[in-house]
Amino acid sequence: MQRDEQKLRAYFADAPEDISLEDVDLERIPRHVSIIMDGNGRWAQSRGLARPQGHVAGVDSLREAVTTSVRLGVDYLSVYAFSTENWRRPREEVNLLMHLFAKTLIKELPLFDQENVRLKFLGDIESLPKKTYDVFMQGLEQTAGYDGMTFALAVNYGSRAELVRGARALAQDVAAGKLAPEQIDEAALSQRLYTADMPDPELLIRTSGELRLSNYLLWQLAYTEFYVTDVLWPDFTKWDYLRAVRAFEGRGRRFGGVVQS
Ligand code: FPP
Repeated sequence: MQRDEQKLRAYFADAPEDISLEDVDLERIPRHVSIIMDGNGRWAQSRGLARPQGHVAGVDSLREAVTTSVRLGVDYLSVYAFSTENWRRPREEVNLLMHLFAKTLIKELPLFDQENVRLKFLGDIESLPKKTYDVFMQGLEQTAGYDGMTFALAVNYGSRAELVRGARALAQDVAAGKLAPEQIDEAALSQRLYTADMPDPELLIRTSGELRLSNYLLWQLAYTEFYVTDVLWPDFTKWDYLRAVRAFEGRGRRFGGVVQS
């Protein structure tokens, strides 16, 4: 974990009444924070705007969440940007999202550069439109050497499809004689998921008040603390992030055992 205390204090200087940096224990910041960014459409509709405008506004919240994670010293930030089910949305909305992903990534590369952030993708990105895929590959290449925070973008991701893919990879290794069936354990499957080299999330944030997992990281979230807020994603700020961390730190994590003090 890397953290610049001076930058951190400056970043959280203008605190609102109910939350400040003093409310969190910097020694207990979650190592991996994951976010289901929900409510873009409702945010736009409530302002009389077209749904895609909500996604455009959501990019600003995402940039802020990346910066907040870096400032707090989070090692991994993962976000659900597009699910395997999202292809069912109107074609114009899907096209806009694909375009937005590519455009945003190119635009934000200097931020990754400046903050030493390594990019990673969770999901079947090879099936994305070529332009989007090419930009994603460029982002992977350009950030491969960075060793600060890892930012994992789940795009064309579905947890059940990921588990099926993992099971297939295990079966192929068994069929090829590289793996004995008795060697299949939790680690063996974990290593064949998109999240192979990442720790499981400690904190999952979902915006817009929905109480669902929506086929997101079903395996990886087994012991994760959930934090759901009614705030819609385009309205989510660094202070909402800090509120989530405060709630996380206030919980006794047991992992099936007893509370440890
Ligand atoms: C959920 O809101 C949001 C999405 C499906 C897309 C998330 C995309 C962004 C935040 C845009 C930027 C992302 C990147 C990676 C550049 P919703 O449309 O389901 O909202 P609703 O539930 O109110 O309809």
